[in-house]
Amino acid sequence: MAIHLVEKYSESFISADEYKNIQSDVSAAHSLLCNRNGAGSDFLGWVTLPEDYDKEEFARIKVAAEKIKKTSSVFIVVGIGGSYLGARAVIEFLKSPLYNSLPKDTPDIYFAGNCISAVSMAEIAQLCRDRDVCINVISKSGTTTEPAVAFRVLRGMLEEKYGVEGARERIFVTTDKAKGTLKSFSDDAGYETFVVPDDVGGRFSVLTAVGLLPIAVAGIDIDALMKGAADAKLTYISDDIEKNDAYKYAAMRNILYRKGKTTEILVGYEPYAMMLNEWWKQLYGESEGKDQKGIFPASVIFSTDLHSLGQYIQDGTRNLFETVISVEDNHETFDIPNDPANIDGLNFLSGTDLNLVKKTAMQATLLAHVDGGVPNILIELADRSAYSLGYLIYFFELACAISGYILGVNPFNQPGVEEYKKNMFALLGKPGYEKLAEELKGRIN
Ligand code: PA5
Repeated sequence: MAIHLVEKYSESFISADEYKNIQSDVSAAHSLLCNRNGAGSDFLGWVTLPEDYDKEEFARIKVAAEKIKKTSSVFIVVGIGGSYLGARAVIEFLKSPLYNSLPKDTPDIYFAGNCISAVSMAEIAQLCRDRDVCINVISKSGTTTEPAVAFRVLRGMLEEKYGVEGARERIFVTTDKAKGTLKSFSDDAGYETFVVPDDVGGRFSVLTAVGLLPIAVAGIDIDALMKGAADAKLTYISDDIEKNDAYKYAAMRNILYRKGKTTEILVGYEPYAMMLNEWWKQLYGESEGKDQKGIFPASVIFSTDLHSLGQYIQDGTRNLFETVISVEDNHETFDIPNDPANIDGLNFLSGTDLNLVKKTAMQATLLAHVDGGVPNILIELADRSAYSLGYLIYFFELACAISGYILGVNPFNQPGVEEYKKNMFALLGKPGYEKLAEELKGRIN
């Protein structure tokens, strides 16, 4: 098993009776998921995806990735939310946050269309100048403003540089299989397209073409990623929380939430885990934060953030719990050198591997935070490999669905995301929004 859930740092906060009492809620959630009769059951494609993914498209993804590697030194991934976070999380976790700066035989990868920023757009345009570029536009709806604007800019740039014909060979589109303007536009323009399956929502889509094409371009083994997820699917089948760690994690979160622990902090101990934290925050925040309910998902990277948020976690408002991911084997060691002058007094660490120092810092912090009243859930991940990460992704997706059902929400919709969009369109003067625009302007001025 690639994951081991450690409960001992939350034992003093969760009693055996509380586990016993929540089991019926977990079983009910399990039944909603398995019988596909819970809220949002049209969006359960991710459950079986690791086994029944489209093998023909998977092969096409690999061919496209090779073509992109051969023909470009810069690859721009255009998408927002679930249409970008997964790919970026996996690439940074398995390669590096410094992927673009480190020596490699794959293209630099930049992410665009995930914000509204003239500065970022200008920077991306600058990065593409004098370099060979391919782009992958990812949007399930095909109408999201941020990626649509970036696509306009980048398409124009590519057509200017390579001509319409040349640009066609460099634009890859991942969108709905039939619906939406992006799909019809792409078919008319002759771009190669990949599918966001109808029954997979954005934040659950990293193991579809949405994540897999950029991940493959980075040179990551997507077969191993899928195998890890498939093995996790086989592991987490029982509804008994004593036999299913994904369900146990979901149960622990809900027990703690019911006791007033309304913020969960996902803790990583490696800078390469930062974007995984961001992916996790979207997965849990968008799935559970609704109907005036839900745990607020936050994240930190230690030991970095022990020097910023550490004080609050140790000693601030006691509404927190932490979920710590410990990567047991980084496949990399680095020994601390000896200093004959011992100016920093650290010679007692000479020859010690930084992995050991990190692990010790983690153990010290776990104990300190538990003593400070913060329950800790520890997830040990076997290693930093595509297989283990695929396993972890499935673990979190499954736990999220079960946790949402225990909470009593639809984990697969995101009605709240539309509110700002309506207001923005009205204020920007989009036709059809005149009445709302008038009302909003009255409130602003
Ligand atoms: O999880 C989700 O559904 C959202 O985060 C979407 O992925 C995000 O809003 C982007 O939507 P789209 O892929 O339609 O452009």
